[in-house]
Amino acid sequence: MNIIEEYEKYIAKIGDRKTLYRLVANRFDVKMALYPGSHIDIGASLVIPNVTYIDNYKGTIQFFKHLIEVRNYINMNKEYPEECTIEFFGLDYNENIKLDKVDMIISQFAGFVGQATKKHLKKGGILLCNDSHGDATLAYLDDDYEFIGVVESNNTIITDELEKYFKFANERQIDRNKVLTKMKGPRYKTQPSNYIFLLKKNI
Ligand SMILES: C[S@@+](CC[C@H](N)C(=O)[O-])C[C@H]1O[C@@H](n2cnc3c(N)ncnc32)[C@H](O)[C@@H]1O
Repeated sequence: MNIIEEYEKYIAKIGDRKTLYRLVANRFDVKMALYPGSHIDIGASLVIPNVTYIDNYKGTIQFFKHLIEVRNYINMNKEYPEECTIEFFGLDYNENIKLDKVDMIISQFAGFVGQATKKHLKKGGILLCNDSHGDATLAYLDDDYEFIGVVESNNTIITDELEKYFKFANERQIDRNKVLTKMKGPRYKTQPSNYIFLLKKNI
């Protein structure tokens, strides 16, 4: 199997997130993004000209050894006029990696990305995350971030009536320590597929 077949097989399994990435990138004028814990989800590069991927899994490192083929595939299928810029680091995203600050960080099913990598986000930049591992909950409780929206499963961005999110059916406080130890997002009354946060200051 070549790497493009491998990518297409992966997308068939996880679902194509290109619509999600396009929607958020267009809304917030994202030109440069960072995707820690990406595995081989390179769909962001189809709609965002400059994306850096970080993942320390050996299968991912093997995939990105074919960076020329990845770039060729993206250049043939991308939706923006300029050449794509793609970088990959086969490292732990907690490490001190020297990177330019980006407009958006993508966090999907890969731990506490929004906490570990917010130093790479510009002031006013966007964290797009789900709450599978509790990353959205940690951002919600983090004063460095402002909760500004959600993306519903039909790929609509909602920015009003946000008070209803992060609330339990039986009213109680969020237990941050439990999220940190279990690495699982709590079960809230309303659960959108993704959350959007804005970084309020330079870290
Ligand atoms: C469940 S997969 C999700 C992949 C992709 N984000 C998606 O949604 O399709 C989690 C990925 O995060 C990577 N990952 C988890 N913790 C990491 C860390 N500390 N540093 C780098 N990569 C990490 C794993 O290697 C794995 O490829």
